[in-house]
Amino acid sequence: MDNLAEIVMGRKSVRSFDGNPISDQHRKALEEYIKGISNPFGIPVEFVLLDAGEHGLSSPVLTGEQLYVTGKVEKKPYADVAFGYSFERLVLYAWSLGIGTTWIGGTMKRELFEAAAGVKPGEMMPCVSPLGYPAKKKSVREVMMRKGIGADSRIPAEKLFFREQWGQPLTQADEMAEILELVRWAPSAVNKQPWRILLKDGVYHFYEKKDKGYVSEATGDLQKIDVGIALCHFLMGLEEQGMQAEVTVRDPGLEIPNDAEYIVSVAIK
Ligand SMILES: Cc1cc2nc3c(=O)[nH]c(=O)nc-3n(C[C@H](O)[C@H](O)[C@H](O)COP(=O)(O)O)c2cc1C
Repeated sequence: MDNLAEIVMGRKSVRSFDGNPISDQHRKALEEYIKGISNPFGIPVEFVLLDAGEHGLSSPVLTGEQLYVTGKVEKKPYADVAFGYSFERLVLYAWSLGIGTTWIGGTMKRELFEAAAGVKPGEMMPCVSPLGYPAKKKSVREVMMRKGIGADSRIPAEKLFFREQWGQPLTQADEMAEILELVRWAPSAVNKQPWRILLKDGVYHFYEKKDKGYVSEATGDLQKIDVGIALCHFLMGLEEQGMQAEVTVRDPGLEIPNDAEYIVSVAIK
């Protein structure tokens, strides 16, 4: 993949496609990349590519899409976080090839996608995404939607990243600041950015700042998926800088607000 910052900052959800199928070369590249995707939780995510026409798949927010990717994961603790991490790896890789995606957890006929993907009891298919080349012009609906969600802005860093104690801004002017900027620009459900990071004793602890209405049987907790996406950007940023990290799930028991939940910790070695 090219420069990670260019990919992360350049990526936008794409909801208007040019109607062309993706090239054989790109399809092969995606299939190869998928085979190598793993996540720090060791929870396998199975990707399924589905032809939209063949399976009668569509989404009211999309136009011109020909192909979808869905992901299936066994329902268990951390399945949603793992799903977010693994699926985002594919999203970023697709963008590096010039292929647009949109995380879709709500705006679709879920039963049709689940049947086409062959979701079994005990599994969930939290989100899907179209895969295709962006149209030259966005649909009016897409433009309105982006405006409505405020998709082109993000919460300022000082409200997301803390040092020593919750609420105390983490201000750093080194390569970590660049990596945190990649985290800040991650995509999230309704652009809520529910991740928070608290740096304590050299360890970056990730939390979910929970809102109501994001948990269901079919999707798990969409905001935990968002934290998995943020973690993906963080670890890919460290990887690119050649920094080694150790990922653990061990709640340090720090003081946090009632609507926050501990998710994962990253120690830089
Ligand atoms: C877990 C998740 C679920 C999402 N579900 C939908 C959806 O159902 N429909 C939709 O149009 N966009 C959906 N999105 C896309 C977000 O709205 C989008 O990522 C966010 O507004 C930021 O815009 P950007 O991706 O262009 O940076 C979802 C994103 C995530 C991460």
